[in-house]
Amino acid sequence: MRGKSSAISILTAGFLAGCNTHQSTLAPFGADAADIRHLFIMMLVGAVLIAGGVALLMRHAVRAPEGSIDHRKGMRIVLWLGGIIPTVVLLGLLAYSLPYMKPRPASPADLTIAVDGEQFWWRVAYAPPGRPPILSANEIRIPTGRTVAFRLSGGDVVHSFWIPGLAGKMDMIPGRINSLVVRADKPGRYRGQCAEFCGLSHALMAFDVIAMPPAAFDAWLAEQARPARPGDAAGARLFAENGCGGCHGIAGVNAPSRIGPDLTHFGSRRTLAAGILPMTEANVAAFIRHPEKTKPGVRMPSFPQLSDDEAIALARYLQGLK
Ligand code: CUA
Repeated sequence: MRGKSSAISILTAGFLAGCNTHQSTLAPFGADAADIRHLFIMMLVGAVLIAGGVALLMRHAVRAPEGSIDHRKGMRIVLWLGGIIPTVVLLGLLAYSLPYMKPRPASPADLTIAVDGEQFWWRVAYAPPGRPPILSANEIRIPTGRTVAFRLSGGDVVHSFWIPGLAGKMDMIPGRINSLVVRADKPGRYRGQCAEFCGLSHALMAFDVIAMPPAAFDAWLAEQARPARPGDAAGARLFAENGCGGCHGIAGVNAPSRIGPDLTHFGSRRTLAAGILPMTEANVAAFIRHPEKTKPGVRMPSFPQLSDDEAIALARYLQGLK
């Protein structure tokens, strides 16, 4: 028994150690996630009370010598610990949680961001009111203190959009648009993850959410709206020669494409391959040559014919797109 309980303690400690503040429902940075955390804690308290009652009942049943409890006393124990207490606790939890079921009054969004799940990356389009959409991928920035409406869809198969610190998850279904309205209270960098099995690299489909003070966000968005700065000439030539523009749009260089992630301001992103690798020259070069080594099942073809120097030149060019 003691061995079992210490095993449970070790498992629980390991589980909690895995929770950091960047990807945890228990570390909210928005009102919806705060509600979810609150409900979780209340449900946990209810579950502990009921489990405690059951444990008491079992202890009594195991320890009492045969014939020491008469029928009426036994019925009373079962009635209270097995019936009345669980009913009261569960009804209390139901009454407590009902107000959370009501949808929040819809407030008009200050900003709409369309996100499509793709195998295995995120297509992002900011739609500032009265201005053309701004394309991006695999990293989402939002202003704090403002209402942001995500319009979510699936480009190929069903994915699920989940930022544990901000809100509950929402399915991304091809041919359908689901809406998720959120508001971040605190600036910071938080992690999101695909929460619906979508193929071999489902677990490698993550993204960063960067919540910024509104003025900094507005300045950043204005920067994103302009075309890419011309980068390293040798890398630009390789980009054209290898047909990269057939799948990847770069504003100011070639037409937007729906096949692969938009690369207009690629160099300003903090991670590569949808939140998987740090954005370094070596990682970008290695990914271009053999994307399947990082992401099994990825749709991007490999470019093993590129020499080390060519892959580095291409990486340098892409990282210069800021
Ligand atoms: Cu996309 Cu799982």
